[in-house]
Amino acid sequence: MIEFPGYEAIISRVYENHQEHVFQYWDELDDSEKKLLLDDLAEIDFTLLNRLYTEKESAAPSDFEPAPYIGIPMTDEERREWDRARSAGVELARAGRVAAFVVAGGQGSRLGYEGPKGKFPIGPVSGKTLFQIHAEKIMKYARKYGASIPFLIMTSRANHAETEAYFRENRWFGLAQADVIIFPQNMIPSLDTHGKLMLETKHSVFKNPDGHGGSLTALHTSGALTEMKKRGVEIISYFQVDNPLVRIIDPVFIGFHALKGADASSKAVRKAYPEEKVGVFVRFARGAIGVVEYSDLPEEKTRSVDAKGNLRYSSGSVAIHIFRRKFIERIADGKEISLPFHTARKKIRTLAEGAEREVDGLKFEKFVFDALPLTDKNIVFETLREAEFAPVKNASGLDSVESAQRMMIEQHMGWLRGRGIRMPAKARVVEISPLVAVEAEDLDPGLAITDEEKVYIDENAARSVPPGHPPQ
Ligand code: UD1
Repeated sequence: MIEFPGYEAIISRVYENHQEHVFQYWDELDDSEKKLLLDDLAEIDFTLLNRLYTEKESAAPSDFEPAPYIGIPMTDEERREWDRARSAGVELARAGRVAAFVVAGGQGSRLGYEGPKGKFPIGPVSGKTLFQIHAEKIMKYARKYGASIPFLIMTSRANHAETEAYFRENRWFGLAQADVIIFPQNMIPSLDTHGKLMLETKHSVFKNPDGHGGSLTALHTSGALTEMKKRGVEIISYFQVDNPLVRIIDPVFIGFHALKGADASSKAVRKAYPEEKVGVFVRFARGAIGVVEYSDLPEEKTRSVDAKGNLRYSSGSVAIHIFRRKFIERIADGKEISLPFHTARKKIRTLAEGAEREVDGLKFEKFVFDALPLTDKNIVFETLREAEFAPVKNASGLDSVESAQRMMIEQHMGWLRGRGIRMPAKARVVEISPLVAVEAEDLDPGLAITDEEKVYIDENAARSVPPGHPPQ
């Protein structure tokens, strides 16, 4: 057994759990590296890891039915209800009760981009990054509602420093520095298929971020939640970094959430086809509403249709939620309540027997939607895909850079048409700066657009001209 003064208990724990291979490079390490490795090991909850390894094949839930949801309004009464919700939502935004929260712990590797995904350029004309677009939307909402809207950003160990530096270099994209709160999520070791820890370097254990479900704990442990309480924020509007179309502050959604007295609320879109890779909203046998991930939805349920031939499990999760601050406080602070871990089998690059190699491994992640059944009340709210869901997951094809950019262009052209703004003959690609508009009604109907193939409407271009006086 190796020795290092002051670390006897940790070293014994490693041996008791049969993980002593993590010391295979011990003799090559200097004292500071030895300390780093031991500190890394000290953070590991071996009891939890042993349990996760034993339970890795645990069954997915099976006793559920499709969840009820608030649909797109069809009748006058429903439209009146929407208007009431909108007023309530606007009221809350004006009173500074709302914060925006993006989970951005992931890397852009599926896009062939090795940095924080938020730094990926997505603006079809401007080349603005996902982070810049989100930040500018928040600035626009803050201006519209005349209140500050804190922007909470969860990173992970791999991209925290780079994300912070990016916001600093860009002067927080015009937001007040104090309103941009960036904090990392926790990490958990991955295991190989025999339940063994793996090394990332000779003096560190391979760990992966604990999933976006870790965001609720990270909000608490980082102090962000306390800060929100101090500022009087009651509602946290949660979204994923990879969706440039997201309506970050949606007064109707916020209003329904508040009027229904929900602890959490979620947006759903109709699934485009049965196998679409989105979780679906369900009502579990005990009555709670939650999400079953696409990979856990049995084949016959994935394809099941009702008497009219419509998909029964058709409410797809777009990973947009609202959480009541007090609900997060309750579950993040509680000692017994914690979200379950899901196991994913992934190839992991690790250091073993003197060389870097790729091995089959098990990654453990929490999913934020597992918090939904822990609420006293939660609601599902239907929305239109083209209005707010364009995930950038892949380099090409489905849910890609190309499809997201096309949706952004279509949305912006739709807003211009909706406001009766004339589209010049040459214009093919149009992008509107979030600082000009986050929805059609922000556009001045007198706006004149230059006759070019690629048009970017920013604050300078958005100056209106009197009707009948086209710009020179
Ligand atoms: C996810 C959802 C799926 C939903 C779909 C919508 C899961 C398991 N599935 O799929 O139900 O319909 O998005 O687009 O989430 N992240 C972190 N930390 C982590 C892991 C992820 O911050 O430890 C962030 C990522 O930066 C990203 C988001 O969570 O913003 C989603 O992660 P991703 O792995 O892309 O989820 P999907 O499997 O695509």
